[in-house]
Amino acid sequence: MENNMIQLPESLDGKTILVAGAAGFIPHTLSEFYLKLGASVIGVDNFITGSRSNLDKLYPYKKFEFFEANIYEDLPDFKNRSIDYIFSLASPASPIDFEKIPLEIMRVNSEGTLNLLNLAREKGARFLEASTSEVYGDPEIHPQTEDYFGHVNPIGPRSCYDEAKRYAEALTMSYHRKYGVDTRIIRIFNTYGPGMRPNDGRVIPNFINQALTGQDITVYGDGSQTRSFCYVTDLVNAIHNVMFSDDPTPFNVGNPDEYTIKECAEEIITFLGSTSRIKYLPIGEDDPKRRRPSLGKLQSISNYKPQVSFREGIQKTAAYFRDLAQIQGRNDFKQPNL
Ligand SMILES: NC(=O)c1ccc[n+]([C@@H]2O[C@H](COP(=O)([O-])OP(=O)(O)OC[C@H]3O[C@@H](n4cnc5c(N)ncnc54)[C@H](O)[C@@H]3O)[C@@H](O)[C@H]2O)c1
Repeated sequence: MENNMIQLPESLDGKTILVAGAAGFIPHTLSEFYLKLGASVIGVDNFITGSRSNLDKLYPYKKFEFFEANIYEDLPDFKNRSIDYIFSLASPASPIDFEKIPLEIMRVNSEGTLNLLNLAREKGARFLEASTSEVYGDPEIHPQTEDYFGHVNPIGPRSCYDEAKRYAEALTMSYHRKYGVDTRIIRIFNTYGPGMRPNDGRVIPNFINQALTGQDITVYGDGSQTRSFCYVTDLVNAIHNVMFSDDPTPFNVGNPDEYTIKECAEEIITFLGSTSRIKYLPIGEDDPKRRRPSLGKLQSISNYKPQVSFREGIQKTAAYFRDLAQIQGRNDFKQPNL
């Protein structure tokens, strides 16, 4: 190991971690990761996009505690509690949410983040803001490095999310500079895995559910736009590396393997042995043409390397959606034996 490499803790026994958005897809996976490392985890969520079934995986851990609350309205009272680490992960993240609940998205990333930063300041806790690759907008450089300021439409249909996350980053750096709060920022690139909503509207859950039910796979545009998809357990490892680094400036986190959306649809059809065909629909406004994280900065401080292949990740996620469909009593899944 080189000298500048971070030392990750082997146990977090005795430490308390607050996870805002704990019923969500990435946050519940992160919560379980820290429970397994021996930490006490306090989850907060208002279920606007999260699910109670994600929490069912956390309740068996004795050190898990949950509060139902909207973090921009009524953060629970933690007066007599010590909190060591705060993960600011509460935010809807799908393009279908941008259309339906834009103001809730803006408020959670601004007022919600502010409440969590004030709590971090009061408790002397380390704070991590989950930002997004969307801060780069429709990027003019490729792959995207952290020093790129982005190419964002401030008034377009995606701006409620992109600009709110840019504000959350600015707020986090301001608390760091003005009050000395110990902060970290991550920019998450497309992540998928068990715990997502089947009707989430994002590429992977859409394609898998369409492939499993034999429906047409809907590709927006000609499918030549690219994305890089990270399996959620790899992402959690990347987040952990950043939280235990000592650098308050933003880090890209994700997987650098890049696919066109058309390739992604074809791979999913093949991996799942589906009979679905690809159907092309008009593309949305401001849809980014290329997305791939440069991970050089993260890899300069850690040994981070994604471990889960696209095939394995898709099969695990498909198995999750199949199990969920069974629990829900749905019988439209044509590939029951993955
Ligand atoms: N999944 C991705 O590809 C991706 C990419 C970039 C950034 N992110 C960021 O990672 C975080 C988690 O994303 P996800 O994909 O797991 O989404 P998710 O919707 O599954 O999780 C977000 C959780 O936050 C909760 N929440 C939202 N507003 C809240 C509020 N006001 N009070 C309390 N809880 C609230 C939701 O109910 C949900 O459980 C988000 O901040 C998102 O912007 C995700």
